[in-house]
Amino acid sequence: MGEQDVSEAVRSLPKAELHVHIEGTLEPGLALDLAKRNGVSLPWATIDELRRQYEFGDLQSFLDLYYQLMGTLASADDFHDLMLAYLAHAAADGVRHAEIFFDPQVHIRNGLDIDAVMDGLLSGLAEGRKRFGITGGLILSIVRDLPIESADSVLDAVQNRAGDLLGIGLDSAEVGYPPSLFVHVYDRAREMGLHCVAHAGEEGSSDYVAQALDLLHAERIDHGVHAIDDPALVARIARSGIALTACPLSNRRLQVVKDLHDLPLQEFLRAGVPVTVNSDDPAYFGGYIADNYAALEKIGFSLEQLGAIALNSIHASFISPDEMRDLEAQYASWKARYLN
Ligand code: HPA
Ligand code: ZN
Repeated sequence: MGEQDVSEAVRSLPKAELHVHIEGTLEPGLALDLAKRNGVSLPWATIDELRRQYEFGDLQSFLDLYYQLMGTLASADDFHDLMLAYLAHAAADGVRHAEIFFDPQVHIRNGLDIDAVMDGLLSGLAEGRKRFGITGGLILSIVRDLPIESADSVLDAVQNRAGDLLGIGLDSAEVGYPPSLFVHVYDRAREMGLHCVAHAGEEGSSDYVAQALDLLHAERIDHGVHAIDDPALVARIARSGIALTACPLSNRRLQVVKDLHDLPLQEFLRAGVPVTVNSDDPAYFGGYIADNYAALEKIGFSLEQLGAIALNSIHASFISPDEMRDLEAQYASWKARYLN
């Protein structure tokens, strides 16, 4: 198959995106426009100047810029527009279903009303479903390095609209903020009927992954790279069918690994772990989801393997059995076209 055909095959592969932060889809041009529109002052006047800030040495150096640019988002319309722009990219990349993180504690700290944030995101999702046929839902992500009381109060704020959420997640600076700190938050979220996922093992050790499973009862692990350091844990993850939401371009850009070859994805797959591939913060890390699949193809993943990864993403999503059957059928058509 020629390069063009592989790229077409990867793009048309029906997939679910399970690890994307809506704030991480804020492209630099839109951030500058929003800053102007909303009277927020930023130290960079042009896209080129801003783009020069995108060399990250670690997770924290990325988070500093990510939280600063988040300050340009001010209204429900801004969140609606942000969601639609992401869904347009996602649709072009073959995404049929997306489970999308947002960071309400930060928006509340910025003076926004959580209902306005959620209403904007949900109306963007509804419009995206009409325009692109993509289904999706929101995962409220707890920012682990903010005061724990703000995690409690964000759950208070959404107590009466849990039906508008798919799940709870845990993100931001990992080391020093282990999952054990968030047990009561996750217990409460579970009582509200939310699915539980957590970032673990991105910069944190395999012990953080084990804690996310044991203490938070995470149904998926976001990143999970460092689980590889504990073979018994890898075997346990495989046995329980817990999926990892890998984000290759993110891991390379944040120096979790020096090179994509150093990511243990083939090892995870060989051990039977359902690996999925995702974009994390595509506006910051140099690519949307299909670019992440294509990057793996470049380092030797076969189209069969990429197909299996996409099927993992469908199975690891929180869609209904009917929707799952529909996506499996779409996958079967793709397979008949490209693999047989
Ligand atoms: N890791 C932790 N927190 C985040 C990330 C990430 O990759 N993206 C946005 N918040
Ligand atoms: Zn993430």
